[in-house]
Amino acid sequence: MQYPDYRPRRMRRTETLRRMVRETRLSVDNLVYPMFVVPGTGVERAIPSMPGQANLSVDKAVEMAAKAADLGIPAVILFGIPERKDAVGSEAWSANGVVQKAAKAIKKRCPDLVVIADACFCEYTDHGHCGVLHEGHLDNDASLENLARTVVSYARAGIDMVAPSGMLDGFVGACRESLDEEGFIDTVIMAYSAKYASGYYGPFRDAVDSAPKSGDRRGYQMDSANAAEAVREVSMDVAEGADIVMVKPALAYLDIIRVISDEINLPVAAYNVSGEYAMIEAAAANGWIEKERVVMETLTGIRRAGADMILTYHALYAAALLARR
Ligand code: PBG
Ligand code: ZN
Repeated sequence: MQYPDYRPRRMRRTETLRRMVRETRLSVDNLVYPMFVVPGTGVERAIPSMPGQANLSVDKAVEMAAKAADLGIPAVILFGIPERKDAVGSEAWSANGVVQKAAKAIKKRCPDLVVIADACFCEYTDHGHCGVLHEGHLDNDASLENLARTVVSYARAGIDMVAPSGMLDGFVGACRESLDEEGFIDTVIMAYSAKYASGYYGPFRDAVDSAPKSGDRRGYQMDSANAAEAVREVSMDVAEGADIVMVKPALAYLDIIRVISDEINLPVAAYNVSGEYAMIEAAAANGWIEKERVVMETLTGIRRAGADMILTYHALYAAALLARR
């Protein structure tokens, strides 16, 4: 392939030609929409650091989920903000918790929409850590017991998929075992397998008021400098029964998405996190970038890196754009 016999520009000349040789497809089928459910009714509280996103009470969450389903988005992932936080995060496994209630209501309105529930304790504990604390440190195995209770209560509420996000050792095995014991053999596990300790979670922690009151999450989330460790973490989750593995965040970790999708024979999800969303929104609001182009370029880039599905706050926005194409 040599100039002037081969001219790469030939196939870039028109949109139709470009469309014929496009290597990566972004489809609405790839999108998962995260939602923040709060107690009460009629609540739609804007999240300042995530323009366009809101904390929603169950009734409003149902409306939003229906909107997502109408746009063809296959799945939503629910995060709950409890009525009351305590030391162990016990509202996470309450049959009347916001996530359990929202899941029931959403499945009733949109039976075909896949409802995923994030399973962690940082939104539910008064100290903001992702499990039970023992002398200031996260007690791994005590936290696993609570995780097992939580995913079973989610399955009872009709959730299709649980997404344990705490980066505890053995968390996928604990979920699979407890679900199977209770007969929920078809409940899917989407594991946050390679989740990095990241500054990009800032706006999310405002949204769910989950910033650790003391210390940070570096004792359980991964060091951002590590790649081989991601393969190790993901392999463990595969062995423990994960159905989908996730890399999170997405943009500073596209190389990790690539490695995992090359090496692991399971669907790979990538989480385009709150800070990544906030940066695009802020720059677009200032007129510094074109939002439409940058959102599509970003999501396509995550797909190109190897992600089969993308959890993104831009899901509804992107789905609407894709429908026009
Ligand atoms: C916590 C959790 C986090 C996110 C989802 N679940 C981050 C954290 O606080 O450690 C981040 C999502 C986002 O930033 O969009 N288990
Ligand atoms: Zn957590």
